[in-house]
Amino acid sequence: MRDCYTVHKLGQRDENSMMQHVITIQDFSRDEIDRILNRAAELEPVAHTGSSDALSGRILATLFYEPSTRTRLSFDVAMKRLGGDVIDLGAVETSSAVKGENLADTISVISGYADAIVLRHPKEGAARMASEFSSVPVINAGDGAGQHPTQTLLDLYTIRKEGKLNKAKIALVGDLKYGRTVHSLAHALSLYDAEIYLVSPDQLKMPDLMKDGLIESGTEIVETAEIDDVIDVVDVLYLTRIQKERFPDPSEYQAVVGSYKITKETLKDVKDNLIIMHPLPRLNEIDPEVDASRHAMYFRQSFYGVPVRMAILSMVIG
Ligand code: NCD
Repeated sequence: MRDCYTVHKLGQRDENSMMQHVITIQDFSRDEIDRILNRAAELEPVAHTGSSDALSGRILATLFYEPSTRTRLSFDVAMKRLGGDVIDLGAVETSSAVKGENLADTISVISGYADAIVLRHPKEGAARMASEFSSVPVINAGDGAGQHPTQTLLDLYTIRKEGKLNKAKIALVGDLKYGRTVHSLAHALSLYDAEIYLVSPDQLKMPDLMKDGLIESGTEIVETAEIDDVIDVVDVLYLTRIQKERFPDPSEYQAVVGSYKITKETLKDVKDNLIIMHPLPRLNEIDPEVDASRHAMYFRQSFYGVPVRMAILSMVIG
């Protein structure tokens, strides 16, 4: 990825150095995204079983102030496959956050221990703020209902591997209000001339500001509450979990939970080569009976988190 360092704008760059943060997907141009995806493709064999010493002697710090399975572990394995080491904050309850330490101080300290920091935090904007206090690159692993740029890169990688990235007809389904994965993904897809179908209950529509951004970029968007309106038209069906933890009122969650469920029956009229994606974890959005169908892509998609995060780490630390 050495060539990446010669590009002027790659991720959010610190004005005073060549340091590279990964905060939002808007920080990347289409060329830069393509370069990361190409690098991930080169690294995929290593992600399966191999090892490399590209990041030997380097340390990644992972700080998860919200639960995580895939993001935390795939960053961990990506760093280790590249020969590096990982330190993890562990459960927030056992960290000094409980004593009242603020995020800025934690970041100032940890950036002295590690070569990069992966941060997941319940507050939107936390990663951006952390980048201002860090002397090493900060990678946003999800900031509240904000963004999840590394998930988006692995989503794009999955769609590209299936040959559907250019001019994709894609439905983003579920919680488009609080779901950070779809916030990042919708913008990224607009760089690839996608036709985007936004499928959500009324209460969980994508925020207007985001939709306006898509429209301004010339992206065709169609909004509907009915999955049946789109299911036989699209090439990619991207389902999401309703983000229970972000609802101010539990009764509002109860009103929308279980809005969409994909079963074998729902799939009877879909395009032959439709792919079904999901950032996981799933609740009831996809019936397990769908897992064995040729459309199911979500487990492979989560594996692609490894090569894509290897590419990201080699870019920011390498
Ligand atoms: C997503 C997240 O944390 O935003 N999970 C993930 O990183 N794969 C999706 C979710 O929690 O629903």
